[in-house]
Amino acid sequence: MKPCTSELTTRLRTAENVVAFSGAGISSESGVPTFRGTDGIWSKFKPEELANFDAFMSNPELVWEWYRHRKEIISRVQPNAAHRALARMEQIYRRFAVITQNIDNLHQRAGSRTVHELHGNIERNYCTGCGKYYSNDFILAQERAPRCPSCNSLIRPDVVWFGELLPEDAWKASVAAAETAQVFFVIGTSAVVYPAASLPSIAKRSGAYVVEINIETTEFSMKADEVLLGKAGEVLPALISQSLSHTEHERAQRYGK
Ligand code: APR
Repeated sequence: MKPCTSELTTRLRTAENVVAFSGAGISSESGVPTFRGTDGIWSKFKPEELANFDAFMSNPELVWEWYRHRKEIISRVQPNAAHRALARMEQIYRRFAVITQNIDNLHQRAGSRTVHELHGNIERNYCTGCGKYYSNDFILAQERAPRCPSCNSLIRPDVVWFGELLPEDAWKASVAAAETAQVFFVIGTSAVVYPAASLPSIAKRSGAYVVEINIETTEFSMKADEVLLGKAGEVLPALISQSLSHTEHERAQRYGK
């Protein structure tokens, strides 16, 4: 991996407020498929048939078959070194937040506490009628598309489908984090799905040093202050050992973390 510049090392050593914006690429080393690219989910399935509300209401069995499959994959995987590196960074910095487009809960499972979920979480489900929440255990025990025992309406996964609004609180917190970050990482995302993909530009306009980490260049690469090409599970731990390990203990003490 190409070492990061001294500029980034200096900024990581002096920053107090760091934010990481992640996409499907950060979970690919855990075994969760990404969406775009050669083997991506959308090269095999049609998002218009599986990831929008009308498709769900017209064919709930198909959509649930697919989400059961995704829940099953995600239940079998573990957070990887990239997720763990971000959880460690949260211990180092006075202010640190993860903004994620992922619905796999792997940041939280790695120990990250401040996680703004822009596209929901596959471990939650709710009734389309009365809004009641249901666990995965309840859902996976149903043979057919699950229905609410209280009002008999269809239950859906708590994820954001195409054409739907992002959860307001998570969006507002993410914009605030992007506007105040001193260093803003853009990790494992093709940066093409909006409004989430506008966050790196918001951070840049607000004065953050924006660092992209990806195995290839993306639509955003030209606008980044620095691009680190490589796997997130290799780049992030190396970044910590290159830039931070000597200040880690001192900082953790300073911030009582
Ligand atoms: N490390 C770093 N980057 C990686 C790795 C890796 N190990 N593996 C893949 N990548 C990169 C790919 O090069 C690509 O740029 O991760 C990116 C994944 O892009 P997408 O599959 O488009 O996923 P994402 O950007 O998260 O998609 C955004 O689109 O389909 C919707 O709701 C879904 O949240 C998702 C949104």
